[in-house]
Amino acid sequence: MLLTVKSLSCVVGFLLINTIDIFADKNMNRFKVVVANPSVPKIAYDILQKHCDIKTSTVFSRASILQDVVGADALFWASKIRVDKELLDAAGPQLKVIGTMSVGYDQFDIDELKARGIKFGNTPAVLNNAVANIAVMLAIAASRRFTEGRKHIEEGTWINYFNTQWMLGQDLTGSTIGIIGLGQIGQAIAKRLKGFDVGNILYTGHKEKPEGIELGAKFVNLDNLIRESDFIFLAAPLNNQTYQMCNSDFFSKTKKTAVLVNISRGQLVDQEALITALKTGRLFAAGLDVMTPEPLNTDNELIKLNNVVLTPHVGSATNDTRNAMAELTAKNILRALGGAEMFTPVF
Ligand SMILES: *[C@@H]1O[C@H](CO)[C@@H](O)[C@H](O)[C@H]1NC(C)=O
Ligand SMILES: *[C@@H]1O[C@H](CO)[C@@H](O)[C@H](O)[C@H]1NC(C)=O
Ligand SMILES: *[C@@H]1O[C@H](CO)[C@@H](O)[C@H](O)[C@H]1NC(C)=O
Repeated sequence: MLLTVKSLSCVVGFLLINTIDIFADKNMNRFKVVVANPSVPKIAYDILQKHCDIKTSTVFSRASILQDVVGADALFWASKIRVDKELLDAAGPQLKVIGTMSVGYDQFDIDELKARGIKFGNTPAVLNNAVANIAVMLAIAASRRFTEGRKHIEEGTWINYFNTQWMLGQDLTGSTIGIIGLGQIGQAIAKRLKGFDVGNILYTGHKEKPEGIELGAKFVNLDNLIRESDFIFLAAPLNNQTYQMCNSDFFSKTKKTAVLVNISRGQLVDQEALITALKTGRLFAAGLDVMTPEPLNTDNELIKLNNVVLTPHVGSATNDTRNAMAELTAKNILRALGGAEMFTPVF
């Protein structure tokens, strides 16, 4: 079942009583927590400062963060900077807890964290709705030619009384939807799309899921999904099975009218192959909230293409969602410091 931001913060709010209790009967020293980003919402500080002294990294460079982490008991991570052996050594052996304010955690050397017995948690669930909303927005924007239309307005080439063929997009209603990775975000996307009266919803992944049946979605292999879908949503995590799965072979099988939406993480797409597919009409359009590299260079070809809609990785970037992520990360850290299990541990 999907948790909304509000219901989760309710659950977490209730459980916070336990967070405090962890410390109630102990004469705890204060802990040192390093927040590796100056823009973490205030709520995280409100929660942590009861039991922790907080140092915030204000300079966004590895060199500077390597100094900031020295002596930390816990790290509050909201950064792409890699947490590896070097950084963990810099912090010191007292470091036992890390909370990342994100769902994905490919910037962490997981084996190294485990070897050191560090407790590690992320923030699943609280951002599902915000990310799924962006995915639907990108699907509509890309299929209805937002970028191209906007350029016609800007450049004074919007001539609507003669040839309006350039305006014609693709319908979401009645279309076949393909979701690669029916996890929580994939499910939230499917749920929303049903409201647009789409046709079939297909998905692929490791195995058929009960949630798929509930959503009326059909489990198919990747090949069928690529060939049949009008809209393809990438919502799978990065791993050995998904690495560059959207390569030139992938794009050779898509419908020419298909629209690709990437809200995923990691190198799921061979971006060069995607660009070629978009330029040669192998694909109708793409809507991307994630790309390589981030930030994208201003001369990147993706920016020049008319049939691409780009957003700068804003999937979870709403005030409420970021607050919920900060709150959950702070509570995870506090619980682990107090010896209790995190609300959303990775391990
Ligand atoms: C991917 O495969 C390599 C080599 O087979 C392995 O070392 C690595 O741990 C795998 N990574 C993941 C994320 O499964
Ligand atoms: C899709 O998302 C990932 C995440 O950042 C990125 O590495 C990949 O290149 C993206 N694909 C495209 C075509 O933007
Ligand atoms: C963001 O959320 C915080 C905490 O609820 C609130 O104090 C602040 O006014 C909000 N800011 C915006 C721009 O909505």
